Amino acid sequence: MENLHKSVMIKEIISFLPLTKSINVIDATFGGGGYSKTILEKFNVNQLLAIDRDPISKIFAKEIESKFSNFTLINDKFSRIEEIVNNTNFKNKKFDIILFDIGTSSNQIDNAQRGFSLKKSGPLDMRMGSSDKNAYDIINKYEEKNLADIIYQYGEERYSRVIAKEIVKNRKIKFINDTIELSNIIKKCLPKKNLLKNKIHPATKTFQAIRIYVNDELNELKTSLEKTLKILNKDGLILVVSFQSLEDRIVKDFFNHNSGKRWRSSRHYPELPDILATQLKIITKKPILPSASEILENPRSRSAKLRVAQKI
Ligand SMILES: C[S@@+](CC[C@H](N)C(=O)[O-])C[C@H]1O[C@@H](n2cnc3c(N)ncnc32)[C@H](O)[C@@H]1O
Repeated sequence: MENLHKSVMIKEIISFLPLTKSINVIDATFGGGGYSKTILEKFNVNQLLAIDRDPISKIFAKEIESKFSNFTLINDKFSRIEEIVNNTNFKNKKFDIILFDIGTSSNQIDNAQRGFSLKKSGPLDMRMGSSDKNAYDIINKYEEKNLADIIYQYGEERYSRVIAKEIVKNRKIKFINDTIELSNIIKKCLPKKNLLKNKIHPATKTFQAIRIYVNDELNELKTSLEKTLKILNKDGLILVVSFQSLEDRIVKDFFNHNSGKRWRSSRHYPELPDILATQLKIITKKPILPSASEILENPRSRSAKLRVAQKI
């Protein structure tokens, strides 16, 4: 299987890694293995533990496994990062670098059978790995209000109610089976002027919402970030690349709250009861964005934001 994923902001990522020191690394979102491979080739790596919930990651790990004995891939969710460390040879190890490159890889999006693409016909699935939910059940079985709430909450789609109504109307005639079918239903719900004005596909936000909900992506991220604090070495770095504002806010809040600030990214979030113990120092005051040339070469990188913090 060919690796279709182009790693995002790899130059920026590796610019934070120490060149001479021997390091233990976790690549929590192995994907096609681009980050892992580069780090193993260029740095003095003691051990690199890679994690990915998608079983296809095992295919891309084969070449790396054959070249590097200090590389291990575990096919699991990163919300179990601490358990993974403690249930393997890594028990009681601490890490110098923990990387997250959140979201889906091109190997997932470009395979129409996975149901992530709104431009290619495929089944409504959207599971990144094992999950007790799938897109078909949500689209065809959830109550209209529940569906609208999901589309609003995880897609920040202002036409969520209209879209949910239209989905329910259509599925009464015939179950919605296919990604293009769903995408065409959504397209009808947006005002014509929006279709002309917006550069993004009209179904993008709804597809994002369903995918986040199917894979419980925001809770995965929150849980995992909390656990990294227990397995990071002093001076160790957490680096997170995110691709949409909901994830970026989680990262920003997590870094802020653990570096002694009470600040919230949204006034709608509950006030923090206390200032938490200071465990992190924020390295990137503002997120680092991909260069214009990277965006040109890999348009999927355009919404990426990299944030870095250091354990103190
Ligand atoms: C953007 S890709 C990573 C690409 C990788 N950095 C590279 O260079 O090839 C994101 C990967 O994270 C995985 N992933 C997303 N959420 C996850 C989770 N909660 N637990 C484990 N893996 C996850 C996806 O399956 C996907 O393979």
